[in-house]
Amino acid sequence: MSLLAGCGGGSTGGGGTTGGGNNNPPPSTATLAQNAAKHSLKVGAAAVSPYLSDTSYASILGSEFNELTAENEMKFASVAPTSPTENYAGADALVSFAQAHQMSVRGHTLVWHQQVPSWVSPSDTTAQLNTILQNHITDEVTHFAGKVYAWDVVNEAFNDDGSGSTPATVRSTIWYDNPGIGFAGMGTAYIEQAFNWARAADPTAKLFYNDYNIETENPKSDAVYAMAQDFTNRSVPLDGIGFQFHINPSFDTPANLASVTANFQRFAALGLDIHITELDIALADSSTASFNAQAKLYGELATICLQQPKCKLFQTWGFTDKYSWIPQFIPGHGWALPFDANYQKKPAYTSILNAWQ
Ligand code: XIL
Repeated sequence: MSLLAGCGGGSTGGGGTTGGGNNNPPPSTATLAQNAAKHSLKVGAAAVSPYLSDTSYASILGSEFNELTAENEMKFASVAPTSPTENYAGADALVSFAQAHQMSVRGHTLVWHQQVPSWVSPSDTTAQLNTILQNHITDEVTHFAGKVYAWDVVNEAFNDDGSGSTPATVRSTIWYDNPGIGFAGMGTAYIEQAFNWARAADPTAKLFYNDYNIETENPKSDAVYAMAQDFTNRSVPLDGIGFQFHINPSFDTPANLASVTANFQRFAALGLDIHITELDIALADSSTASFNAQAKLYGELATICLQQPKCKLFQTWGFTDKYSWIPQFIPGHGWALPFDANYQKKPAYTSILNAWQ
Protein backbone atom coordinates (compact mmCIF):
# COMPACT_ATOMS: atom_id res chain seq x y z
CA MET A 1 0.00 0.00 0.00
CA SER A 2 1.41 3.39 -0.89
CA LEU A 3 -1.80 5.27 -0.22
CA LEU A 4 -0.21 7.17 2.61
CA ALA A 5 2.50 8.93 0.68
CA GLY A 6 3.45 12.02 2.59
CA CYS A 7 1.94 10.85 5.86
CA GLY A 8 4.29 8.32 7.31
CA GLY A 9 7.76 6.96 7.35
CA GLY A 10 10.52 9.25 6.20
CA SER A 11 11.94 12.24 7.95
CA THR A 12 10.49 15.60 7.11
CA GLY A 13 13.42 17.47 8.53
CA GLY A 14 11.96 18.32 11.90
CA GLY A 15 9.15 20.73 11.08
CA GLY A 16 11.14 23.85 10.37
CA THR A 17 12.08 26.92 12.35
CA THR A 18 10.17 28.73 15.02
CA GLY A 19 9.30 32.38 14.95
CA GLY A 20 9.71 32.72 11.22
CA GLY A 21 6.23 34.04 10.58
CA ASN A 22 5.10 30.99 8.64
CA ASN A 23 1.63 30.14 9.92
CA ASN A 24 1.33 26.85 8.09
CA PRO A 25 1.60 24.05 10.60
CA PRO A 26 4.32 21.55 9.78
CA PRO A 27 3.16 18.15 8.58
CA SER A 28 2.58 16.05 11.64
CA THR A 29 5.18 13.42 12.28
CA ALA A 30 4.08 12.91 15.86
CA THR A 31 3.58 9.34 16.98
CA LEU A 32 0.45 7.73 18.38
CA ALA A 33 2.11 7.90 21.80
CA GLN A 34 2.81 11.63 21.53
CA ASN A 35 -0.76 12.36 20.49
CA ALA A 36 -2.23 10.09 23.15
CA ALA A 37 -0.09 11.72 25.82
CA LYS A 38 -1.60 15.12 25.00
CA HIS A 39 -4.84 13.67 26.34
CA SER A 40 -3.30 11.72 29.25
CA LEU A 41 -4.26 8.59 27.35
CA LYS A 42 -2.22 5.44 27.16
CA VAL A 43 -1.91 3.81 23.75
CA GLY A 44 -0.76 0.22 23.97
CA ALA A 45 -0.20 -3.00 22.15
CA ALA A 46 0.00 -6.65 23.11
CA ALA A 47 3.59 -7.78 22.61
CA VAL A 48 5.62 -11.01 22.43
CA SER A 49 9.23 -11.03 23.69
CA PRO A 50 10.85 -13.16 20.92
CA TYR A 51 9.66 -10.61 18.36
CA LEU A 52 11.75 -7.90 20.05
CA SER A 53 14.75 -9.18 18.07
CA ASP A 54 12.91 -8.12 14.91
CA THR A 55 14.30 -4.59 14.68
CA SER A 56 11.32 -3.05 12.88
CA TYR A 57 8.99 -4.59 15.45
CA ALA A 58 11.03 -3.24 18.35
CA SER A 59 11.46 0.24 16.95
CA ILE A 60 7.76 0.75 16.20
CA LEU A 61 6.63 -0.76 19.50
CA GLY A 62 9.08 1.40 21.41
CA SER A 63 8.24 4.65 19.64
CA GLU A 64 4.54 4.55 18.69
CA PHE A 65 3.24 3.15 21.98
CA ASN A 66 3.57 4.24 25.60
CA GLU A 67 2.18 1.03 27.09
CA LEU A 68 2.38 -2.70 26.37
CA THR A 69 0.90 -5.92 27.65
CA ALA A 70 2.01 -9.53 27.35
CA GLU A 71 0.01 -11.25 24.62
CA ASN A 72 0.72 -14.61 26.29
CA GLU A 73 3.78 -14.50 28.50
CA MET A 74 2.09 -13.61 31.80
CA LYS A 75 -0.62 -16.28 31.48
CA PHE A 76 -0.52 -19.14 33.99
CA ALA A 77 0.52 -21.78 31.42
CA SER A 78 3.33 -19.51 30.24
CA VAL A 79 4.81 -18.74 33.65
CA ALA A 80 4.37 -22.21 35.15
CA PRO A 81 4.12 -24.69 32.25
CA THR A 82 5.27 -27.87 33.96
CA SER A 83 5.18 -27.30 37.72
CA PRO A 84 4.11 -24.69 40.25
CA THR A 85 7.56 -23.11 40.01
CA GLU A 86 7.10 -19.92 38.03
CA ASN A 87 9.52 -18.65 35.38
CA TYR A 88 9.06 -15.06 34.32
CA ALA A 89 11.86 -14.81 31.74
CA GLY A 90 9.65 -13.91 28.78
CA ALA A 91 7.51 -11.50 30.74
CA ASP A 92 10.58 -9.93 32.36
CA ALA A 93 12.03 -9.29 28.90
CA LEU A 94 8.88 -7.38 27.99
CA VAL A 95 9.07 -5.38 31.22
CA SER A 96 12.75 -4.51 30.57
CA PHE A 97 11.93 -3.36 27.04
CA ALA A 98 9.06 -1.26 28.32
CA GLN A 99 11.18 0.36 31.02
CA ALA A 100 13.92 1.16 28.50
CA HIS A 101 11.31 2.90 26.33
CA GLN A 102 9.38 4.72 29.07
CA MET A 103 6.34 2.50 28.55
CA SER A 104 3.85 1.29 31.16
CA VAL A 105 3.17 -2.44 31.47
CA ARG A 106 -0.26 -4.00 31.84
CA GLY A 107 -0.58 -7.51 33.26
CA HIS A 108 -2.68 -10.12 31.43
CA THR A 109 -4.08 -12.33 32.95
CA LEU A 110 -4.22 -14.07 36.35
CA VAL A 111 -7.46 -16.09 36.28
CA TRP A 112 -8.73 -17.57 33.02
CA HIS A 113 -10.21 -20.88 31.92
CA GLN A 114 -7.77 -21.10 28.99
CA GLN A 115 -3.98 -21.46 28.96
CA VAL A 116 -4.09 -23.21 32.33
CA PRO A 117 -1.04 -25.44 32.90
CA SER A 118 -1.64 -29.16 32.40
CA TRP A 119 -0.39 -29.95 35.91
CA VAL A 120 -3.54 -28.15 37.16
CA SER A 121 -6.37 -30.65 36.81
CA PRO A 122 -10.13 -30.81 37.43
CA SER A 123 -9.36 -33.92 39.44
CA ASP A 124 -7.51 -31.76 41.96
CA THR A 125 -9.56 -31.10 45.08
CA THR A 126 -11.20 -27.77 45.77
CA ALA A 127 -8.71 -27.20 48.61
CA GLN A 128 -5.80 -27.88 46.25
CA LEU A 129 -7.19 -25.58 43.56
CA ASN A 130 -7.74 -22.84 46.09
CA THR A 131 -4.11 -23.04 47.19
CA ILE A 132 -2.85 -23.27 43.60
CA LEU A 133 -4.74 -20.16 42.54
CA GLN A 134 -3.90 -18.13 45.62
CA ASN A 135 -0.21 -18.97 45.24
CA HIS A 136 -0.25 -18.19 41.54
CA ILE A 137 -1.89 -14.79 42.00
CA THR A 138 0.28 -13.93 44.98
CA ASP A 139 3.55 -14.99 43.36
CA GLU A 140 2.96 -13.33 40.01
CA VAL A 141 1.53 -10.07 41.34
CA THR A 142 4.34 -9.88 43.89
CA HIS A 143 6.97 -10.53 41.23
CA PHE A 144 5.70 -7.63 39.12
CA ALA A 145 4.75 -5.26 41.95
CA GLY A 146 5.88 -1.76 41.08
CA LYS A 147 6.38 -2.76 37.44
CA VAL A 148 2.86 -3.61 36.30
CA TYR A 149 0.43 -0.73 36.73
CA ALA A 150 -2.76 -2.70 36.07
CA TRP A 151 -3.80 -6.34 36.03
CA ASP A 152 -6.51 -8.26 34.27
CA VAL A 153 -7.25 -10.23 37.42
CA VAL A 154 -10.09 -12.28 35.94
CA ASN A 155 -10.67 -12.84 32.23
CA GLU A 156 -13.82 -14.01 30.42
CA ALA A 157 -15.76 -15.34 33.42
CA PHE A 158 -19.23 -14.92 31.90
CA ASN A 159 -21.10 -16.95 29.31
CA ASP A 160 -22.49 -15.50 26.09
CA ASP A 161 -26.05 -16.17 27.22
CA GLY A 162 -28.84 -14.17 28.77
CA SER A 163 -31.46 -12.35 26.75
CA GLY A 164 -33.60 -9.26 27.11
CA SER A 165 -33.28 -8.13 30.70
CA THR A 166 -31.92 -11.51 31.86
CA PRO A 167 -28.17 -11.11 32.34
CA ALA A 168 -25.56 -13.65 31.25
CA THR A 169 -24.55 -16.41 33.66
CA VAL A 170 -21.19 -17.16 35.26
CA ARG A 171 -19.13 -19.53 33.12
CA SER A 172 -18.39 -23.02 34.45
CA THR A 173 -14.62 -23.29 34.77
CA ILE A 174 -12.00 -25.17 36.72
CA TRP A 175 -11.84 -22.16 39.04
CA TYR A 176 -15.57 -21.62 39.60
CA ASP A 177 -17.41 -24.90 39.88
CA ASN A 178 -15.53 -27.54 37.93
CA PRO A 179 -14.58 -28.30 40.71
CA GLY A 180 -13.71 -24.73 41.68
CA ILE A 181 -11.74 -23.00 44.45
CA GLY A 182 -14.60 -23.26 46.97
CA PHE A 183 -17.35 -20.93 45.75
CA ALA A 184 -19.32 -23.20 43.40
CA GLY A 185 -22.90 -22.04 43.00
CA MET A 186 -22.07 -18.65 44.53
CA GLY A 187 -21.87 -16.62 41.32
CA THR A 188 -19.17 -13.98 41.39
CA ALA A 189 -17.84 -14.85 44.88
CA TYR A 190 -14.80 -16.66 43.45
CA ILE A 191 -14.01 -13.62 41.32
CA GLU A 192 -14.18 -11.48 44.45
CA GLN A 193 -11.71 -13.84 46.15
CA ALA A 194 -9.27 -13.45 43.24
CA PHE A 195 -9.46 -9.64 43.45
CA ASN A 196 -8.83 -9.74 47.20
CA TRP A 197 -5.75 -11.94 46.72
CA ALA A 198 -4.42 -9.63 44.00
CA ARG A 199 -4.93 -6.51 46.11
CA ALA A 200 -3.16 -8.12 49.05
CA ALA A 201 -0.13 -8.87 46.84
CA ASP A 202 0.10 -5.35 45.38
CA PRO A 203 -1.98 -2.60 46.97
CA THR A 204 -1.10 -0.09 44.24
CA ALA A 205 -1.78 -1.95 40.97
CA LYS A 206 -5.14 -1.20 39.38
CA LEU A 207 -7.28 -4.33 39.20
CA PHE A 208 -9.47 -5.06 36.18
CA TYR A 209 -12.12 -7.49 35.07
CA ASN A 210 -11.67 -8.15 31.30
CA ASP A 211 -14.05 -9.73 28.77
CA TYR A 212 -15.22 -9.86 25.16
CA ASN A 213 -18.71 -9.11 23.80
CA ILE A 214 -19.28 -6.57 26.58
CA GLU A 215 -18.56 -3.51 24.43
CA THR A 216 -22.22 -2.57 23.98
CA GLU A 217 -25.13 -2.68 26.41
CA ASN A 218 -26.28 -6.28 26.22
CA PRO A 219 -27.08 -9.21 28.58
CA LYS A 220 -23.38 -10.01 29.01
CA SER A 221 -22.31 -6.45 29.82
CA ASP A 222 -25.39 -6.26 32.08
CA ALA A 223 -23.99 -9.20 34.07
CA VAL A 224 -20.58 -7.54 34.32
CA TYR A 225 -22.26 -4.28 35.32
CA ALA A 226 -24.25 -6.01 38.08
CA MET A 227 -21.02 -7.53 39.40
CA ALA A 228 -19.22 -4.18 39.16
CA GLN A 229 -22.01 -2.39 40.99
CA ASP A 230 -22.04 -5.02 43.72
CA PHE A 231 -18.23 -4.95 44.05
CA THR A 232 -18.00 -1.17 44.19
CA ASN A 233 -20.89 -1.02 46.71
CA ARG A 234 -19.08 -3.44 48.99
CA SER A 235 -15.55 -2.07 48.37
CA VAL A 236 -14.29 -5.23 46.69
CA PRO A 237 -11.05 -3.99 45.09
CA LEU A 238 -12.17 -3.59 41.48
CA ASP A 239 -10.68 -0.54 39.74
CA GLY A 240 -11.76 -0.94 36.17
CA ILE A 241 -13.21 -2.94 33.32
CA GLY A 242 -11.30 -4.15 30.27
CA PHE A 243 -13.33 -4.23 27.09
CA GLN A 244 -11.60 -6.50 24.59
CA PHE A 245 -13.06 -5.28 21.26
CA HIS A 246 -12.24 -8.19 18.98
CA ILE A 247 -14.56 -6.92 16.24
CA ASN A 248 -14.98 -6.51 12.49
CA PRO A 249 -16.34 -3.68 10.33
CA SER A 250 -19.94 -4.88 10.70
CA PHE A 251 -19.70 -3.49 14.26
CA ASP A 252 -19.76 -0.02 12.74
CA THR A 253 -23.41 1.00 13.09
CA PRO A 254 -24.72 4.18 14.72
CA ALA A 255 -26.64 2.05 17.21
CA ASN A 256 -23.56 0.11 18.28
CA LEU A 257 -21.40 3.21 18.62
CA ALA A 258 -24.07 4.94 20.70
CA SER A 259 -24.35 1.81 22.81
CA VAL A 260 -20.58 1.69 23.43
CA THR A 261 -20.71 5.31 24.58
CA ALA A 262 -23.64 4.65 26.91
CA ASN A 263 -22.06 1.44 28.18
CA PHE A 264 -18.78 3.17 28.97
CA GLN A 265 -20.70 5.90 30.73
CA ARG A 266 -22.56 3.54 33.06
CA PHE A 267 -19.31 1.87 34.16
CA ALA A 268 -17.61 5.27 34.48
CA ALA A 269 -20.46 6.40 36.72
CA LEU A 270 -19.47 3.64 39.15
CA GLY A 271 -16.07 5.34 39.37
CA LEU A 272 -14.36 2.60 37.37
CA ASP A 273 -11.61 3.07 34.81
CA ILE A 274 -12.28 1.90 31.27
CA HIS A 275 -9.59 0.19 29.22
CA ILE A 276 -9.93 -0.87 25.62
CA THR A 277 -7.69 -3.91 25.97
CA GLU A 278 -7.55 -6.12 22.88
CA LEU A 279 -8.82 -4.09 19.96
CA ASP A 280 -8.48 -5.56 16.50
CA ILE A 281 -10.78 -5.23 13.50
CA ALA A 282 -10.62 -8.41 11.43
CA LEU A 283 -11.09 -8.15 7.67
CA ALA A 284 -11.94 -10.80 5.09
CA ASP A 285 -9.73 -9.18 2.43
CA SER A 286 -7.12 -6.46 2.00
CA SER A 287 -9.07 -4.30 -0.44
CA THR A 288 -8.94 -0.52 -0.23
CA ALA A 289 -12.63 -0.51 0.68
CA SER A 290 -12.00 -2.87 3.59
CA PHE A 291 -8.98 -0.89 4.80
CA ASN A 292 -11.03 2.30 4.70
CA ALA A 293 -13.98 0.76 6.54
CA GLN A 294 -11.56 -0.52 9.15
CA ALA A 295 -9.93 2.90 9.44
CA LYS A 296 -13.28 4.58 9.96
CA LEU A 297 -14.14 2.27 12.84
CA TYR A 298 -10.71 2.57 14.46
CA GLY A 299 -11.10 6.34 14.36
CA GLU A 300 -14.61 6.28 15.80
CA LEU A 301 -13.45 4.16 18.73
CA ALA A 302 -10.42 6.39 19.29
CA THR A 303 -12.84 9.32 19.50
CA ILE A 304 -15.26 7.55 21.86
CA CYS A 305 -12.38 6.74 24.21
CA LEU A 306 -11.10 10.30 24.01
CA GLN A 307 -14.52 11.69 24.87
CA GLN A 308 -14.96 9.51 27.96
CA PRO A 309 -12.74 10.85 30.77
CA LYS A 310 -12.57 7.44 32.45
CA CYS A 311 -11.31 5.76 29.27
CA LYS A 312 -7.58 5.66 30.01
CA LEU A 313 -6.20 3.05 27.59
CA PHE A 314 -6.56 2.36 23.88
CA GLN A 315 -4.73 -0.93 23.31
CA THR A 316 -4.61 -3.12 20.22
CA TRP A 317 -3.96 -6.86 20.22
CA GLY A 318 -0.57 -6.64 18.57
CA PHE A 319 0.13 -3.81 16.15
CA THR A 320 1.35 -5.41 12.94
CA ASP A 321 -0.55 -7.80 10.69
CA LYS A 322 2.68 -9.79 10.56
CA TYR A 323 2.00 -11.27 13.99
CA SER A 324 -1.76 -11.00 14.57
CA TRP A 325 -3.59 -13.94 16.16
CA ILE A 326 -6.57 -13.43 13.83
CA PRO A 327 -5.59 -15.55 10.77
CA GLN A 328 -5.05 -18.57 13.00
CA PHE A 329 -8.18 -18.13 15.09
CA ILE A 330 -10.58 -16.80 12.43
CA PRO A 331 -9.51 -18.65 9.27
CA GLY A 332 -9.82 -16.57 6.13
CA HIS A 333 -9.57 -13.32 8.09
CA GLY A 334 -6.73 -11.03 9.00
CA TRP A 335 -5.38 -7.53 8.25
CA ALA A 336 -6.78 -6.55 11.64
CA LEU A 337 -4.17 -4.10 12.96
CA PRO A 338 -2.95 -0.55 12.23
CA PHE A 339 0.37 -1.62 10.65
CA ASP A 340 0.53 -4.05 7.74
CA ALA A 341 2.73 -7.14 7.58
CA ASN A 342 5.59 -5.00 6.19
CA TYR A 343 5.28 -2.49 9.02
CA GLN A 344 3.70 0.15 6.80
CA LYS A 345 1.09 2.41 8.37
CA LYS A 346 -2.41 1.54 7.18
CA PRO A 347 -5.33 3.97 6.91
CA ALA A 348 -6.34 2.71 10.37
CA TYR A 349 -3.16 4.20 11.81
CA THR A 350 -3.84 7.63 10.32
CA SER A 351 -7.43 7.50 11.48
CA ILE A 352 -6.45 6.92 15.12
CA LEU A 353 -3.82 9.64 14.91
CA ASN A 354 -6.31 12.10 13.44
CA ALA A 355 -8.79 11.39 16.23
CA TRP A 356 -6.24 12.55 18.80
CA GLN A 357 -4.57 15.45 17.00
C1 XIL B 1 -4.70 -15.12 22.45
C2 XIL B 1 -3.31 -14.89 21.85
O1 XIL B 1 -3.36 -13.77 21.00
C3 XIL B 1 -2.86 -16.12 21.10
O2 XIL B 1 -1.49 -15.96 20.71
C4 XIL B 1 -2.99 -17.37 21.98
O3 XIL B 1 -2.67 -18.51 21.22
C5 XIL B 1 -4.40 -17.47 22.52
O4 XIL B 1 -4.74 -16.29 23.22
N1 XIL B 1 -8.86 -13.03 24.57
C6 XIL B 1 -7.81 -12.89 25.44
C7 XIL B 1 -6.43 -13.11 24.96
O5 XIL B 1 -8.02 -12.46 26.58
O6 XIL B 1 -5.58 -13.60 25.97
C8 XIL B 1 -6.37 -14.01 23.77
O7 XIL B 1 -5.02 -14.03 23.28
C9 XIL B 1 -7.33 -13.52 22.70
C10 XIL B 1 -8.74 -13.54 23.23
